[in-house]
Amino acid sequence: MNIILFGPPGAGKGTQADQIAKNFNLHKVSTGDLLRNEIKNDTELGIKIKSKIDNGKLVSDDIIINLIDNILCNKKYFNRLIFDGCPRNLIQARELNLLLKKYGQKITLVFNIDVNKEIIIKRVLGRIVCTNCGITFNKFLDPLNMNNHHCDKKYLKTRSDDNSDVIINRFETYVAQTLPILEYYSKQKILKKIDGTGQINDIYAEISSIMVSLET
Ligand code: AP5
Ligand code: MG
Repeated sequence: MNIILFGPPGAGKGTQADQIAKNFNLHKVSTGDLLRNEIKNDTELGIKIKSKIDNGKLVSDDIIINLIDNILCNKKYFNRLIFDGCPRNLIQARELNLLLKKYGQKITLVFNIDVNKEIIIKRVLGRIVCTNCGITFNKFLDPLNMNNHHCDKKYLKTRSDDNSDVIINRFETYVAQTLPILEYYSKQKILKKIDGTGQINDIYAEISSIMVSLET
């Protein structure tokens, strides 16, 4: 099955996508991670998109559609994708639909992880990422310790777009451009709302039980 995790910045899309991908043998497609990787590797694309990301604006649709096409065409990932934070506007949602059709696939379900603005800001401003193992923590809500993380402290970083000014821009971009997609998926009757304000494990339990019921 192919699923989408939808939600505002800091909703917990990446946190949930990692667990779901691991336990359901899906391939995570995080356009945010793919774009940050381009920036980290100083590629031509990375240089082009850095200021957009650092200002909380969307990267252009042609770049995103190209990234998705490159993944969808790979038979290794056939019908086992979990989209994290993509599509981000109606153009991307429609293009994704066309690409899925082209490769004989579809979206089974879209999980809308619902979290309010106050929680989002706290989550984003507390986020710490380990650049060595890729794990995400939160200094306020999900702290790291000797039992859950073993890499050297030098690898712990904050994201360049995780600051109080940019998170407001990211949230506004989400409301203006991303939220309207919900209606598109609601009409297809594949939208499922999830309360994203609880504990990470409880949210995972809810999403995974729905996925298990779809498999059987
Ligand atoms: P992207 O990387 O997708 O960022 P985002 O949508 O802003 O979402 P985040 O990654 O900030 O949040 P998340 O929902 O993954 O939360 P997480 O699990 O980390 O995009 C970044 C930028 O790239 C965009 O602004 C745009 O410029 C560009 N971009 C990306 N895709 C694009 C596209 N398709 N089109 C155009 N441009 C695109 O959790 C956050 C924190 O909270 C963590 O610290 C975590 O530990 C903690 N946490 C998570 N869940 C809980 C919980 N239940 N309780 C307590 N703490 C929790
Ligand atoms: Mg994320």
